[in-house]
Amino acid sequence: MKALVLSGGAGTRLRPITHTSAKQLVPVANKAVLFYGLESIAEAGITDVGMIVGDTAAEIEEAVGDGSQFGLKVTYIPQERPLGLAHAVLIARDYLGDDDFVMYLGDNFIVGGISGLVDEFRGNRPDAQILLTRVPDPRAFGVAELDPSGQVIGLEEKPDRPKSDLALVGVYLFTPLIHEAVRAIEPSWRGELEITHAIQHLIDSRADVRSTVITGYWKDTGNVGDMLEVNRMVLEGMDRRIDGDVDTASETIGRVVVEEGARIVNSRIVGPAVIGSGTVISNSYVGPFTSVAENCRITDSELEFSIVLRDSSIQGVGRIEASLIGRHVEVTPAPSVPSAHRFVLGDHSKVQITS
Ligand code: G1P
Repeated sequence: MKALVLSGGAGTRLRPITHTSAKQLVPVANKAVLFYGLESIAEAGITDVGMIVGDTAAEIEEAVGDGSQFGLKVTYIPQERPLGLAHAVLIARDYLGDDDFVMYLGDNFIVGGISGLVDEFRGNRPDAQILLTRVPDPRAFGVAELDPSGQVIGLEEKPDRPKSDLALVGVYLFTPLIHEAVRAIEPSWRGELEITHAIQHLIDSRADVRSTVITGYWKDTGNVGDMLEVNRMVLEGMDRRIDGDVDTASETIGRVVVEEGARIVNSRIVGPAVIGSGTVISNSYVGPFTSVAENCRITDSELEFSIVLRDSSIQGVGRIEASLIGRHVEVTPAPSVPSAHRFVLGDHSKVQITS
């Protein structure tokens, strides 16, 4: 069995973070979303991975390399334009050969991995198996309709009037029968060859398409609240580990990870929280559900329920909560007079001010 991992796409929903970074590399608890996917593939006993890449190919290749850091053998398959998920299967035909495969969308996050699902698929070997999850607004997803026995009878891509709240999760298990289906369909209104339509084609031709409903799923919805939530979920599952330097004037409480090369000076860290290598926290408080990435400086400040990406600095600004701070960001106090806020904000930034 092989894996086909999709890592193209523009990531418009996570702007401004994705203006400068591939959406699959957005970190959750200081690790790229894509890396969790690759780890679950390796855990499921799969080693051969075809990676579909687009405009951000260089960045993805730099992060993933040949895959050996995950115990995987990664082969890159360039997609000249984002022409759809079924198009990705089409161009991966030679790579996939006649093997069964799991197709994994690199911006999807599944708590608990996929080993159980892959084992189930290997055991029963239906023609295809899809994952579903209940979502509050199914219009942003592929949506499944099930009959009373739980059998999938129809799939629609981003319908205006969804027939259920069961969204298609971006992990699909396929036998080579899918190759006929992706060749049989036409592009959708958005000009893409939709995998949803290819699976519908399988259903229409009476193939055995099974579904499993899962919980613990996240996909970028453009909502910072969602990112903070998934970060919280992952941090909650972590064990305490202090590899960096914590001075005697500091305190670390509960599930705190301080990576090697990080320094905590005269500060209080209350877990679950993770502090990346090269980061220095001084005279500050870092509260629960916070991830601070590598090479940041947090000085004379308080930070809680937030994500700070690498190379940023927060100095002397009091308390920050429920925030997502990008890379190379500087947050500093303004001079006391005149009393004014001073900003340099990139496109699509969002700021909330207490005055
Ligand atoms: C794609 C699929 C959709 C699925 C979603 C899951 O949507 O077309 O059916 O529910 O992935 O991530 P897209 O990311 O192209 O909007």
